[in-house]
Amino acid sequence: MAIERTLSIIKPDATERNLTGKINAMFEETGLRIIAQRRIRLSREQAESFYEVHNERSFFNELVDYMISGPIVAQVLEGSDAVAAHRKIMGATNPAQADVGTVRKEFALNVQENSVHGSDSAENAAKEISFFFSDADIVG
Ligand code: CMP
Repeated sequence: MAIERTLSIIKPDATERNLTGKINAMFEETGLRIIAQRRIRLSREQAESFYEVHNERSFFNELVDYMISGPIVAQVLEGSDAVAAHRKIMGATNPAQADVGTVRKEFALNVQENSVHGSDSAENAAKEISFFFSDADIVG
């Protein structure tokens, strides 16, 4: 399997509850390597731009409000088949449907405050990584 990179976000509900280390440990235990990491507070404009693909959805404004409600930790994860491996350890978007042992089953509060985000394809990963990081920030 190919070595890939994916973009991960630890969301405000998780930073608020001081879960960054526990979530990072789950990623690392699955073989993903954290090769860049920044704790930041998104502006409204940044959150709207990052989630632009969802701007027609009924939950868009609520999603933006939530994503700017506290700090996030943006990360680049690297590993074998990283996009799929990361999605597997995150679990389903809605924690009610997430498998036991996943981050969202363990920590997510509801479908919106679902603790983590991950890119859904290698193509989107490249775009999302460049949203937060320059090449010099990424140490593989
Ligand atoms: P994420 O994987 O970051 O992609 C889009 C986000 O929108 C998702 O996680 C949730 O935080 C949020 N989201 C998805 N579906 C819903 C929904 N039905 N209601 C509210 N928020 C949602």
